[in-house]
Amino acid sequence: MAPSMEAQQQQPETEGETQLAQAAPDDNEAPNKCKVTVVGSGNWGSVAAKLIASNTLKLPSFHDEVRMWVFEETLPNGEKLSEVINQTNENVKYLSGVKLGKNVVADPDLDRAVRDANMLVFVTPHQFMEGICKRLIGKIKKDAEAISLIKGIEVKREGPCMISTLISEQLGINCCVLMGANIANEIAVEKFSEATVGYRGNKEIAERWVQLFNHPYFMVSAVQDVEGVELCGTLKNVVAIAAGFVDGLEMGNNTKAAIMRIGLREMRAFSKLLFSSVKDSTFFESCGVADIITTCLGGRNRKCAEAFARHGGKRSFDELEAEMLQGQKLQGVSTAKEVYEVLRHRGWLELFPLFTTVHEICSGHLPPSAIVEYSEHKPKFSLVEGSARFY
Ligand SMILES: NC(=O)c1ccc[n+]([C@@H]2O[C@H](COP(=O)([O-])OP(=O)(O)OC[C@H]3O[C@@H](n4cnc5c(N)ncnc54)[C@H](O)[C@@H]3O)[C@@H](O)[C@H]2O)c1
Repeated sequence: MAPSMEAQQQQPETEGETQLAQAAPDDNEAPNKCKVTVVGSGNWGSVAAKLIASNTLKLPSFHDEVRMWVFEETLPNGEKLSEVINQTNENVKYLSGVKLGKNVVADPDLDRAVRDANMLVFVTPHQFMEGICKRLIGKIKKDAEAISLIKGIEVKREGPCMISTLISEQLGINCCVLMGANIANEIAVEKFSEATVGYRGNKEIAERWVQLFNHPYFMVSAVQDVEGVELCGTLKNVVAIAAGFVDGLEMGNNTKAAIMRIGLREMRAFSKLLFSSVKDSTFFESCGVADIITTCLGGRNRKCAEAFARHGGKRSFDELEAEMLQGQKLQGVSTAKEVYEVLRHRGWLELFPLFTTVHEICSGHLPPSAIVEYSEHKPKFSLVEGSARFY
């Protein structure tokens, strides 16, 4: 059983913890306060819980305690990850050396973690979300609000499905998204960055999410464009793989800048072809151009793709992921495959030479050097950008 926040607070050690322990009884007596649960506890999940937990302590309309569902793992010393998080207040596997805040309670029981939550923050690698949603049907409050921090897309027979749509449809709740130039380890140590919340219709809900995440070092703004924001966050991982190939081939900054520009253009074209509601202005928010830049300079997708190119494509991404990421998951390779499926199915492969080439390199059909062979594959973007008929 995960200890409650009050149990963790029995022996306060610092002034801040003493104040928290005193505040807890009032907090529990307020049934109208919002309870927040974070579903996921990897690198970004842990940082998201930390950000939210420092705000719930300050915002009177939220319960102090933030539950964080942990996919239980046994550590090399035989201890359970969730127990170690609750004892040390650190996620020793995915975010070591950073205190999460005493009001974060790790809970390995998914049903219990979500049961009383009014606001659900989904932040797991995208490949696990379909299974998690199935487990959550009938287990959450009917009027709960959700937000997805997940980058990825599910490809189904009937077409591509955004993760926010999967959550909304399977659980029957509204779902916003939060994306941006957000390498988790940098936010964990409170370096300044920005993020974008995408919402569908209800601005009040979007403002509530902004309030929950916003910090002087994490500036959040909201735009009414769920699909645009989510596709930016998802597709930039494919561009980051291309940037990693360029680094592995030691092609320099001009080439990398060209890849970023071509990538951004394909991101916009793909998003607008799938959803005519997607706004151009979204690509100038943190979720767009800023996320492209940070992911192509740092980030795990770039790093593993660089190693892949340095080995001439002879070592698989699965092998490199296991060796270089210590349990963290790559998203770009699977997203490239999913995007490729959509392009192939719709007859759009020739319109998206960068996306197409990334998948063909990842799957071993082309060498890494193919990433810059563009002269023969100029996309006919006039078809996408100039003609409403094409949408
Ligand atoms: N890390 C970042 O810098 C960052 C930044 C922005 C967005 N994101 C996005 O956030 C999402 C989550 O990434 P992360 O960095 O928090 O995770 P991570 O890659 O650091 O960790 C993987 C997580 O998956 C869990 N897991 C493993 N097997 C599982 C299973 N079968 N079922 C459910 N969970 C399982 C692990 O316990 C761990 O919590 C991804 O979509 C990612 O693209 C990450």
